[in-house]
Amino acid sequence: MNIDFFKTYLRQNLTNERYEHSLGAYEASCEICKFLGVENEKAEIASLIHDCAKCLPNDELLRLISQNNIDVTKMELENFKTLHAPVGAYVAKTVFDIEDKEILDAIRFHTIGRINMTQTEKIVFLADKIESRTRRPDISKLLWDALSEHGNMDDAIILCYKATIKKLIDNDLVIHPQTVEVYDSLILDVKKSRLTL
Ligand SMILES: [Fe+2]
Ligand SMILES: [Fe+2]
Repeated sequence: MNIDFFKTYLRQNLTNERYEHSLGAYEASCEICKFLGVENEKAEIASLIHDCAKCLPNDELLRLISQNNIDVTKMELENFKTLHAPVGAYVAKTVFDIEDKEILDAIRFHTIGRINMTQTEKIVFLADKIESRTRRPDISKLLWDALSEHGNMDDAIILCYKATIKKLIDNDLVIHPQTVEVYDSLILDVKKSRLTL
């Protein structure tokens, strides 16, 4: 896959800050892979291009969704900030010619996550939040600490969900059941894994 082509497209279609964030997510995914002792080029590619549709205006996102029958949930339609994930997977497929389902799913689910995320999906989800180019250093450190302490990504991802849920509560916003479902499932997975140790 042509990383330079992806970077050129991103530089032309994202704001400077979003481009920096994309490079940061790419670097973070490489660091996470190194920390976990795994090779996962798919996660690294998906991390780089995960926000490829982030700077499209809302009316363009909605046009692409309706004209191409892009599958979006009710929750995503109620929260415009999440629509760039399903549209991003569509852009990856049509502009970058990516057919690999693992990469496309990691882009598709990088905002809300889902139950039973794959390793690739988890790396991209976490790289998006942990990258140090544009994210707050204290949050990045907190997530790296969780990752280092437990040696797996679930505890760090749980912290991301906690922060999201707290923010929604603080702002009197609705917490969608799917967010709670994913959070619950991660908590149960972590508890189960500790019992079997
Ligand atoms: Fe995003
Ligand atoms: Fe992002």
